[in-house]
Amino acid sequence: MKFLAIGIFAVATGTLTHAGIKGSVLDESGAPIQNAVITTRTLPSLLSNARTLTNEKGEFDFDKAKLNAASKKSLRKRGQSLIAHKTGFLPETLSVVPGQNCGNITLKRDPIENRIDELMANMSIDDMIAQMTQAKAPNTTCGGKLCGSALEGGGAYTADFYTKAWNHKIPVIYGKDNVHGVADVNGATIFPHNIGLGATRDTALVRKIGQAVAEEMWAAHIDLNFAPAITVPQDERWGRVYEGFGETAELAVNLGTAFVRGQQGDHNDAEWRVITTLKHFIGDGATDKGFDRSNATITDKDLYKKYLPPYEAAIEQGSMSVMASFNQVNGVHQHVDSLRLTGILKTELGFDGYVIADWEGIESSTTPGAAGDYSPGLVTGITSKEAIRNAVNAGIDLAMVPQSAEAFVSSMKELVASGKISKERVKDAVRRILRAKIRAGRIDNPNGPSAYVGVTSNIGSAAHRQIAREAVQKSLVVLKNKKVLPFATTDKIFVTGSHANNTGLQCGAWTKSWQGGFDEIPGATSIQAGFDEVAKGTRVATAEEASSIVYVIGETPYAEWFGDYRGDDFNNKIINKTDGKVAFRTTDSDIAQIKAWKAAGHKVTVVLITGRPLPITSLINAADAFVVAWLPGSEGAGVADVLFGKVKPTGKLPHTWPKDAKQIPINVGDGKKGLFPYGFGLTY
Ligand code: BGC
Ligand code: BGC
Repeated sequence: MKFLAIGIFAVATGTLTHAGIKGSVLDESGAPIQNAVITTRTLPSLLSNARTLTNEKGEFDFDKAKLNAASKKSLRKRGQSLIAHKTGFLPETLSVVPGQNCGNITLKRDPIENRIDELMANMSIDDMIAQMTQAKAPNTTCGGKLCGSALEGGGAYTADFYTKAWNHKIPVIYGKDNVHGVADVNGATIFPHNIGLGATRDTALVRKIGQAVAEEMWAAHIDLNFAPAITVPQDERWGRVYEGFGETAELAVNLGTAFVRGQQGDHNDAEWRVITTLKHFIGDGATDKGFDRSNATITDKDLYKKYLPPYEAAIEQGSMSVMASFNQVNGVHQHVDSLRLTGILKTELGFDGYVIADWEGIESSTTPGAAGDYSPGLVTGITSKEAIRNAVNAGIDLAMVPQSAEAFVSSMKELVASGKISKERVKDAVRRILRAKIRAGRIDNPNGPSAYVGVTSNIGSAAHRQIAREAVQKSLVVLKNKKVLPFATTDKIFVTGSHANNTGLQCGAWTKSWQGGFDEIPGATSIQAGFDEVAKGTRVATAEEASSIVYVIGETPYAEWFGDYRGDDFNNKIINKTDGKVAFRTTDSDIAQIKAWKAAGHKVTVVLITGRPLPITSLINAADAFVVAWLPGSEGAGVADVLFGKVKPTGKLPHTWPKDAKQIPINVGDGKKGLFPYGFGLTY
């Protein structure tokens, strides 16, 4: 009664007091629910979300400061709603006004929990441990039982995996890094890497891409995607910058969510839905000096404002899997970080899906690996078994152990038998995995949605290639144009350069191999071939005959730490990976070439293939026009579409572009003035 009176009083005095909101959350028997998550709902951009948890009496008191700070627009002006949710229960959405006492909110048990109970009733502890294990395909048994899932890394693919693993009550799901298409499958559509999609700013397009990738996944019998990366890369020296949509949380929130919706529908309602994996939790893009798998120094404020919102947004859309990161946050390896995995992700955000380890990531929390030799925060001097105990107790539910599945299973058996990992923890992990499989439709329909499964005509279909071509068109960012573009169909154009006619280079890494390379990608159209398709007859074979020259150059492909640059002096150099190591080649010869062409009366347009902004000011200065194409993927004709003005350029920089290497890292809001600001992009 007292509460109610306060509530009415606050309402009566209006929103000017910005009073808080109170209430209690109970289950159907009237028992209080502790740690129910109360969130303000501000979709599509969850950047201004506010959140609180219920106490042991089930009560929450959303204090006004929190509400005001977070919900200026949403709660005070419109969309006045709160969501109350808790793992195991159906969420409740409430309409609220500031100052309200919501009274008792009853959460109903989610019927999915009964289904999980039924499935688990027949499972032994050994079955459950196998369910927590992700082996390397085509293997599907873990400790003699069916594994929960299997994966293959970049470059490998088992076409008939499903025949061994799908026709079971609980299918063994098959995970791949389809980060820009089912890129290890011949003839697949390869979409631009995420950095290019960030330049499009187009959520509807990214949603279409998510669906197209899901359709190609089903055609190839893959039902689990290790994507999207919703990292917020801060340092251009990091070798994984291109895997993220851009340097702001906003891009990861909006485009990451769009991709999840495309892959799964809204809250898993699409027939073609696959399981998406949000990665890498958390702070992978924030490591000191951009060293992959190293330590990230992150303040709580940045954690909540910059790195967490993309997870919150994509989870709210129904993404059921989160991959732990190889990096450390303030010295704590993310595979053993109970504060962030269990405290923040599972409790504060109320994530009810599963947390998957990265590739031998549990082991990497204790043993410095190929990339981790310089990592300062490893818990060295402990056994693998102790690392498993730490990781599972911290919140890892599914172990990606392609090289050590059997060892994981036997260690787990011992750890559970000795009580070092509780049976409750194991059951919770398995419930999370089964929840994901049920929501993905994999239990009701173990053979997959028949309209899509094995429909190989979906792989690289004309419709999907058209979506990818549109993505290329919209991703191009014109940085400079001294009256060269658009070309006319009467122009004579010489298209040349290392990347002009090489589809491997234009697709980048995670295409037909982990690191990517120079090999042609089956079914792809090179940038040069695209000219012939778009403006037949304009292309000439030598510089002499040309009015304009298109010089297509750029980085050679790299993945993960192979793309790190561990120094700061790479002014006017382009990253050139040789023998598995990052090397640099200077742009001096490119600049000399451009000058020679210009002296001979030609106009020169540079098209740059790159996974990140590079400090190449002299190269940009030398060219008459400069276009960044990122890593465009298989539909190279999208470049000519824009250069001929068939489609106007609309791409905007997803990263601030540095003037020189000393400015790196450079990000919007840090007060540094780059060569081009975040969001820059010319049109014509
Ligand atoms: C990468 C992940 C990837 C996994 C499986 C790891 O090395 O960090 O992004 O999903 O391998 O290939
Ligand atoms: C990487 C994986 C990759 C695999 C390719 C591993 O070392 O971490 O991401 O897919 O190699 O074989």
